[in-house]
Amino acid sequence: MKIVLLGPPGAGKGTLAESLRDTLGLLHISTGDILREEMKNGTPLGKEAKKFVESGGLVPDELVTRLIKNRLENDPKAKKGFLMDGFPRTQKQAEDLDKILKDLNQPVDCTLCLEASVKTVVQRLTGRRVCKQCGALYHMTNKPPKKEGVCDNCGGPLYQRADDNEETIQNRMKVYTESTKPIIEYYKAQGKLRSIDADTDSQTVRTAALKIING
Ligand code: AP5
Repeated sequence: MKIVLLGPPGAGKGTLAESLRDTLGLLHISTGDILREEMKNGTPLGKEAKKFVESGGLVPDELVTRLIKNRLENDPKAKKGFLMDGFPRTQKQAEDLDKILKDLNQPVDCTLCLEASVKTVVQRLTGRRVCKQCGALYHMTNKPPKKEGVCDNCGGPLYQRADDNEETIQNRMKVYTESTKPIIEYYKAQGKLRSIDADTDSQTVRTAALKIING
């Protein structure tokens, strides 16, 4: 199954992908996670991406598309199917993804669009904490760790993403509305778009997603 997850920053794409990947045996591909890893390692790509990520803007299409093409062509796990999180984010990326997958004979099966209000996403993003070691996601009130500042899974330290401050969140929402929201129509025209109410708890979102995926 090849699934694309769409939705505004903080709608819960990463949370849903984490919850479904083992159940469905799919690879979770997050462009945000890949870019943050490159930034942490100080690679040339990470250095190039930093200014865009930290301001809430979009990294140029060709850089991100190259990363995705490389992953889809060379990661054997991707052949079994994937949950694509954070890509595509522009019309050009959506068209390029279709071309890459056409060449691999693996078209997108389904696009799940998580619909969440501005109030919800601001609350989720400002309270989000992430494990520095394993990337597990937490929230100060919605999903607090057992011990403050420490990951339940691996004991690693939790941190707040540099782009999870109110000013950058406003910019990310603006960029989403202008550049990413229009591609909902692209998938709708292909008959592949399914919407999910994401203004609700993560278990309800997961159940709704599984109902769609399992037909
Ligand atoms: P990226 O990392 O993709 O950020 P994003 O799209 O803004 O999405 P988020 O990761 O912020 O949110 P999410 O929807 O995954 O929510 P989460 O599950 O974490 O991208 C970051 C940056 O990288 C971009 O701004 C851009 O610069 C660059 N970039 C990435 N891809 C790119 C591309 N293709 N092209 C160009 N540039 C690109 O949940 C958030 C919080 O809410 C968590 O604390 C979680 O515990 C909680 N939560 C989640 N769901 C629920 C629920 N149902 N109920 C209660 N709490 C919930």
